[in-house]
Amino acid sequence: MTETNSAHRSFDLKQYSFPTEQIPRLSITDPEAERRISKALPVLLTDTNLVTSALHWDLEYLSEHIGDGDFVVHISKNKNFQYFDNKKSVNVKDFQKPTEKEDMKFSEFVEKLKKAKPGEDRLYLQQILHDTVGKKVINDFLGFNWHWVTRQQKDNHFGEMTSNLLLIGMEGNVTPAHYDEQENFFAQVRGYKRFILFPPSQFSSMYPYPIYHPCDRQSQVDFDNPDFTRFPKFKEACGMETIVGPGDVLYIPMYWWHHVQSIPSQGYTISVTFWYKAGQAEKIEYPLKPQQKVAMMRNIEKMINQALNNSAEMPDFMSNMTLGRYT
Ligand code: SIN
Ligand code: FE
Repeated sequence: MTETNSAHRSFDLKQYSFPTEQIPRLSITDPEAERRISKALPVLLTDTNLVTSALHWDLEYLSEHIGDGDFVVHISKNKNFQYFDNKKSVNVKDFQKPTEKEDMKFSEFVEKLKKAKPGEDRLYLQQILHDTVGKKVINDFLGFNWHWVTRQQKDNHFGEMTSNLLLIGMEGNVTPAHYDEQENFFAQVRGYKRFILFPPSQFSSMYPYPIYHPCDRQSQVDFDNPDFTRFPKFKEACGMETIVGPGDVLYIPMYWWHHVQSIPSQGYTISVTFWYKAGQAEKIEYPLKPQQKVAMMRNIEKMINQALNNSAEMPDFMSNMTLGRYT
């Protein structure tokens, strides 16, 4: 496959309040690429051929061949599609859902997408790929470079693969900064996405919501208009960024923050994620890595929340435990 040149295309990209450096863009034959994955550092890979068999996907082809199953479509009044766990809504009084969700047939999604006008509701299809898809799409799926990705899984001691998520978004859609508790090989199929990543060591700059909040794992900071009074350490944030285009694969290590924008260029973007569970830690080495500390903080926060049996008591409890003593 020829190397996509997306890193060098000039898009009109927004300048945020924080500095960024470029995520290395490498061939899988470069030993540095493997070294980065093994060290849980992000890297953009240009020639994995992971989804070469799907590079012909577009709305017309998928309409014809993806089958008549139901697809989860997120709907937002603005450009942001902030993830939330509705099960946790009971923990927060007057929680306002950032987006709505609707199940629809693929044809219905395409119709809505084509009719969408600027300033109106935006759509973002996010559906786990499963066996209700038609034969041609199954063949494309079987043609993914499973050999390469499974070797990465083994070599880097990832756990089992959990899912492939198909993402079809309108240009301009944003997935605000969050981290996932899984390893991700993010494969771009159509259009371009700008990724901004922050390492787990910048946890305190990103101000994630409390664990019991529906927006757990999401940053509270609005990147477009950061409130430095509430979130002063966001001034210290320092990101890594890249643009993924068709055929590119971005390795997003577990617990790395990522902010994703579909760059306006071809109307919509298509991506497929390859998510893997964490591997078993072989031997614990000290000092612990930042991502291990994040995992530890999550567990402790969960335990306290469970013991209190009332999330409303969390803020006082957590401040009393640390304020003036550890701060
Ligand atoms: C996106 O592509 O919009 C989000 C992907 C992710 O968070 O893994
Ligand atoms: Fe994510």
